[in-house]
Formats: sequence, C-alpha cells, structure tokens
Amino acid sequence: MTTPAAPRIALCPSAALQERALAVPFDVVYDGQTMRAFAIRFEGRAHAYLNRCTHLALELDYWPNRIFDESGQLLLCAVHRASYAPDTGQCTGGPGRGPLVKIDTSEENGHVYWHPGGPIQPLEF
Ligand code: FES
Repeated sequence: MTTPAAPRIALCPSAALQERALAVPFDVVYDGQTMRAFAIRFEGRAHAYLNRCTHLALELDYWPNRIFDESGQLLLCAVHRASYAPDTGQCTGGPGRGPLVKIDTSEENGHVYWHPGGPIQPLEF
C-alpha cells in the first residue's frame, strides 16, 4: 500500500518568479472566502502568502503585483506601509498586526506549486 502524494496545485512556471521582482497572483479559498494570494521569489526560493495585510485586511499592492519595496528587502503594504519579511511573512514595521498568512510552496522540474492545508483550500470549479 502506498501513501497518496500530498496535494499540490500548479502555480506558475519557475521562470515567472524572478528574484525580488513582481509577484505572481493566484486565488485561494481562505476560511470559505475566495481571496487573492501571491507568490514571490526571495534569495532563490519561492514563497507565497495570502494577499491580505494584517493591519486592515486589505490587499498589499496598489500597483498590481508590486509588493517588494524599492530595496527588494521587504514586502510592503501600499496602504499604510506595513512591512513584512519576504521569507517568513513576519511583520517588520508599520501598523501590521502580526505575520502574513503563509502558503506552503514547492518547486520541481521548472514549476512552482502551492499546497492547500488548514483554512487555505483551492477554488472549486
Ligand atoms: S492596510 Fe496595510 S498597512 Fe494599513
């Protein structure tokens, strides 16, 4: 008897996630509600988060998919400038109230995948 592989969902080609560049958006169901999420690449690794600031539950990007700050060191909410660590989602400054909701990712054979779990589930079609 074999253990079924953990579910994963194709997110984008690896080449679409450039180091500290524009995010790649995708949709998830979080606690029963459809929400935007985004993936970025930082220090070579893919990371994904719910696109929901912990200050006022608004999306972080004013300019679509532009979530890194000018330095490429932090993720920045454009509304009131809460900042977050790109690799952990921890709030590093501004009015954020805790970390971004992180979404597990993996990368294999030139593709990035996200992994549903807990309150984060795929959209039903
Ligand atoms: S909504 Fe993001 S800092 Fe206020």
